[in-house]
Amino acid sequence: MTRRSLTHADRALLREATLANMNWNTTRFTFDDLDAADAIAHYYTGFPAEGDFGLVDSDGDIARAVGWVVFLPEDDPGYGYVDADTPELSLTTFQGFRGQGIGRDLLSELIGLASARGLPGISLSVEDGNGARRLYERAGFRVVGRNGDSDTMLLSLV
Ligand SMILES: CC(C)(COP(=O)(O)OP(=O)(O)OC[C@H]1O[C@@H](n2cnc3c(N)ncnc32)[C@H](O)[C@@H]1OP(=O)(O)O)[C@@H](O)C(=O)NCCC(=O)NCCS
Repeated sequence: MTRRSLTHADRALLREATLANMNWNTTRFTFDDLDAADAIAHYYTGFPAEGDFGLVDSDGDIARAVGWVVFLPEDDPGYGYVDADTPELSLTTFQGFRGQGIGRDLLSELIGLASARGLPGISLSVEDGNGARRLYERAGFRVVGRNGDSDTMLLSLV
């Protein structure tokens, strides 16, 4: 297993991960749907804008999981937007690798990196019914808002 920082060369991987996140419970979206929707595509098209960062966990050439944070502005917010100083997290363990603790470990390392950078916190959006919520709660995220069928959660680092 190796872990390395994500770069702009990983945008295709982030696009794949975003599709997995949007389709976490059922197939609702295609790649074309994602690319056509700015509100979704902004999670990968501009990565990394200033301040954005992330990690990929791989086994050889195979990516097992990715976690990344993006800063999005108030006039182009993510689903889990809190404020412009708080980046939003996306986390995906690819099929075949779930339930082995990879997502938990990756999240923990990302939180450490965010802390080391002096960030005030990390936000995210989790849709009703997604068991990933437990993972986030255990990591210290708390519900701070509501957006459609999803809760906005915030991990405060200050
Ligand atoms: C959510 C996700 C990132 C978790 O990664 P993972 O590597 O499978 O998670 P882990 O094996 O590290 O499990 C961490 C904990 O979260 C729990 N968990 C994670 N996903 C869960 C789910 N869908 N249902 C129930 N529990 C879940 C695990 O039971 C585990 O709890 P434990 O510590 O008591 O064993 C991964 O399942 C995934 O990518 N799912 C599809 C996309 C998605 O939903 N992304 C998140 C959008 S908010």
